[in-house]
Amino acid sequence: MATIPSKVQQEKEENPIPSPPQKYNDLISALPLCTSLPHLSLRQYQGFWFPDNWLPSIMTMQNHFKARPTDLILASYPKSGTTWLKALAFAVTTRTRYPLADHPLLSLNPHDCVLCVDELFADGHASKAEALPSPRLLATHTPYSVLPDSVTSAESECQIIYVCREAKDVAISGWHFGQNIPWLHVEEQHLLAENLKLFCQGLGPFGPIWDHILEYWRESQRRPNKVLFLKYEEMMEKPVENVKRLAEFVGCPFSEGEEREKVVEEIVQLCSLEKLKNLEVNKTGTLASTNIPNASFFRKGEVGDWRNHLDPEMARSVDEVCEQKLRGSGLTLGTIKD
Ligand code: A3P
Repeated sequence: MATIPSKVQQEKEENPIPSPPQKYNDLISALPLCTSLPHLSLRQYQGFWFPDNWLPSIMTMQNHFKARPTDLILASYPKSGTTWLKALAFAVTTRTRYPLADHPLLSLNPHDCVLCVDELFADGHASKAEALPSPRLLATHTPYSVLPDSVTSAESECQIIYVCREAKDVAISGWHFGQNIPWLHVEEQHLLAENLKLFCQGLGPFGPIWDHILEYWRESQRRPNKVLFLKYEEMMEKPVENVKRLAEFVGCPFSEGEEREKVVEEIVQLCSLEKLKNLEVNKTGTLASTNIPNASFFRKGEVGDWRNHLDPEMARSVDEVCEQKLRGSGLTLGTIKD
């Protein structure tokens, strides 16, 4: 059963902005650079665009992270439902330890309950990840092909749950997120069009989104007992069914008694956007590891919110590139209704 990573939490609080390892600097400065986004520089590494300040920790993670057979890793492209998946997976896997009425999610942001494995290596040391007791519940935005062998090799026993979201909603969610972070300020309307053009060229943190999604999708087809592929839209439509899928996948299915007592519904309710968004901790606090306001992770959570922001031509530009890239994969984004 996963636990709150309190030891790591404490270390992060004592040293909130660790300095990245210097040894990767030469390597990183030689990588292709994109400065077209107003708020962050991206570097292209192994086929994907990364915020350049994340690369030292990602490279350290590649070299040092030793996955354990009992690890559960939650993976996502940013703004695809990471916060929700963290809350659900944490609540499901800890349900016998924490009574729902007095649950850590009522006083901690989901990102402080499930740490990002990439960030654990931010100061160049493996010790923070090693210090976590098994079974570890971790998260990552790193693309599948960039993860270390200890996670992806055929012998690896650890499990991954990926959440995928329709690309136009991801783009809009990301744009709003930028507006809510004091030091990003992506507020001018014309930047939306500019951002979308870049998004369609695959230029965004951890982009291209289609390659990010496709890699996890293909692996979920190849190793269905190791990689579970969830869709945000399907989770919205059928939360109870998807939470049961998640629990079965990780080997802790709900008992008949739990189902009778409506434990699944209670977990869905505890992790709902409305519930989490209105908690004091999520209205006021900031993440332990950064100064990002907790509130910025909770907005509307609506399927198809892109309609309120994109004109038909803008929407078509995202659809066309995604359809072309996903053709033949057996995967479609979103639901038919979108
Ligand atoms: P919107 O901006 O469309 O509202 P991430 O967690 O990957 O950063 O994604 C953020 C998106 O997930 C935001 O979408 C946010 O509102 C939504 N979200 C956050 N918590 C959620 C929850 N408990 N249930 C459903 N959606 C949630």
